[in-house]
Amino acid sequence: MRTIKIFDTTLRDGEQSAGVNLNFSEKLEIAKQLERLNVDIIEAGFPAASKGDFASVEQIAKTIRSASVTGLARAVKSDIDAAWESLKEGAEPRLHTFLATSPIHREYKLKKSKEEVIATAVEAVQYASKMFPIIQWSAEDASRTELPFLAEIIEKVIRAGANIINIPDTVGYGTPAEYGRIFSYLREHVPSIDKVHLSAHCHDDLGMAIANSLAAVENGATQVEGTINGIGERAGNAALEEFAVALHIRKDFYGASTAMNLQEISRTSSLVSKLTGMTVPANKAVVGKNAFAHESGIHQDGVLKNKSTYEIISPELVGFHSNAMVLGKHSGKHAFKNRLSELGLTVPDEEIPALFTIFKDLADRKKEMTDEDLAAIVLEEKLSKDQRFYELMQIQVQYGTNQIPTATVTLSGKQNEMLQEAATGAGSIEALYNTLEKCITGEVHLLDYRIQSVGAGRDALAQVYVSLQYEGQESSGRGLAQDVLEASAKAYLNAVNRVIYLKESKTAVLNV
Ligand code: KIV
Ligand code: ZN
Repeated sequence: MRTIKIFDTTLRDGEQSAGVNLNFSEKLEIAKQLERLNVDIIEAGFPAASKGDFASVEQIAKTIRSASVTGLARAVKSDIDAAWESLKEGAEPRLHTFLATSPIHREYKLKKSKEEVIATAVEAVQYASKMFPIIQWSAEDASRTELPFLAEIIEKVIRAGANIINIPDTVGYGTPAEYGRIFSYLREHVPSIDKVHLSAHCHDDLGMAIANSLAAVENGATQVEGTINGIGERAGNAALEEFAVALHIRKDFYGASTAMNLQEISRTSSLVSKLTGMTVPANKAVVGKNAFAHESGIHQDGVLKNKSTYEIISPELVGFHSNAMVLGKHSGKHAFKNRLSELGLTVPDEEIPALFTIFKDLADRKKEMTDEDLAAIVLEEKLSKDQRFYELMQIQVQYGTNQIPTATVTLSGKQNEMLQEAATGAGSIEALYNTLEKCITGEVHLLDYRIQSVGAGRDALAQVYVSLQYEGQESSGRGLAQDVLEASAKAYLNAVNRVIYLKESKTAVLNV
C-alpha cells in the first residue's frame, strides 16, 4: 500500500475563490483544524502578496507543528525572500515556487522564449535552495505544455535543487487519460525523476479534478493537492475530502491511502464553509447534507435490511454523528469548557467567562443547544473580536403590511462614540441597511445577501452572509444571532469592519 501525501491549499488557492476574504484569526483557526485532519502540507498563503498574507503565513508556520507549512512565491527573489522570512520558524519550512510553461502563457503572459523560461525557473530554484531545505516547483499550466519541453525544464529544476515537482492542470482542461499520461511520460523521459516526488494539482472546470487526481496516482504521483470542499479559483480545486475517501473506500483498486484523519472531515468541511461563506451543496459527495440520506422507499427498505445495499460510505467514517442536545441552561462552566475542547475549539481560559455568558444568555432563550450552535457562537465571538470598529448596540425595526418599514439603530463607532440614526426602506432589511449606511461614513453597495439556519427547528440561530462594496473595496461578512434582523445587521457591519481593518493594516494586495 502506497501512502499519498496530502497538500492542502485551502488557505491559498481556496482563498482565491471569488468573494472569499479570510482574516488573520480565521486563517489560523482553519490551519489548526487542518493539523487535526492530519494533512501533510499546509499552503498557508502567498507571503509576498500583502502584509496581511505575510503575517498570517508567519503565524501559521510558528503555530503548526505536525504538518509542514509552505507559502507560494513567483520566480522572483523578493517573493522567495518574503517566503523565507515568513516560513523560517516553521517545523519544516518548504517553498512552493512556480512558473508558467505552456505556449499560451509563455507567449501572452510571460512574453518569454522557452530558454528564458528555463533560465528563470532554474535561477529561482537555485536561489531558494540556499535557504529552504525543501523546494516544490510547479509548472503552471503544465497540462497544456508540450511534453518534451515539460520534461526538459523539469530535469533542469531538479538539478537546480527542487525536491517536489508539481504538475498543475491550472485551467481544468485535462482528461483523466491525458493527465495520467503526463505522469507516465515524465517518469520515462526525465532522467532524475526518481530523486523527486511527483504532485498532482487539479482544477475542476470540467468537473474532472478528482478523476484527474486519481489518474495521477495511478501513474505515479505521490502527492495530491486540493482544498476542503473543493473551493478555489473559478470552479475550484480537487476536493481533498473526496480524494481521501475515494482512496480509502477503493483501496482494493488504487492500492494507496493517505494519513488523513477521516473522522475530522465533517468538522473541517463545516468550519471552512462557515468561515468562507461558501455553502456546501446538499448533494456534494462526502460532506453534502444529503450525502447519506436515503429518500426513495426502495432504498430505505434496502438500507434497513442491510446498509451495504445502498451505502458505500458510513457517515461515522467522516465524522458525522447525530447532533444531539448536549448542553442546556443548567450546564455549568466546566461542562461548557469540556464540550468546547471535545469539539476541537481551543479557547484560552481567560476567554471562557465571556463566552459562557453569551452561551447562558442564548440557552435561556433557545430550547435546544446543539454542538453546531456551540461551534457557531464560539467562532463568531472568537474570530470577529479583533475587527470591531463599528459595533451593534441596539436595533429596533417596525414592520407591518400597511406600514412603511422603519429602523432605528444605535452603534458604537470607531472612537467608541455613540451613533444613532433612523431610516425607512421598502422592506425591513432595506430599512435596516439604509439606517446602518447613515451611521457609518461612506457609501455601501450591497452585492449579495444570504440567510441560512444553523441546524433545524423554529428557534434555530440565523447565519447571514453579505457581500458588499464599501470605500471602493469588495468585502464579505457574516453575522449570527437568534433573530434574522440582528444577524443581518451584524453581517453588514462585519463586512464594513473588514474593509477598515484591511485599510488600517495598510495591505497592498497584489494580483497573480
Ligand atoms: O493552478 C495552478 O497552476 C496553481 C499554481 C500556482 C500551482 O495554483
Ligand atoms: Zn491552482
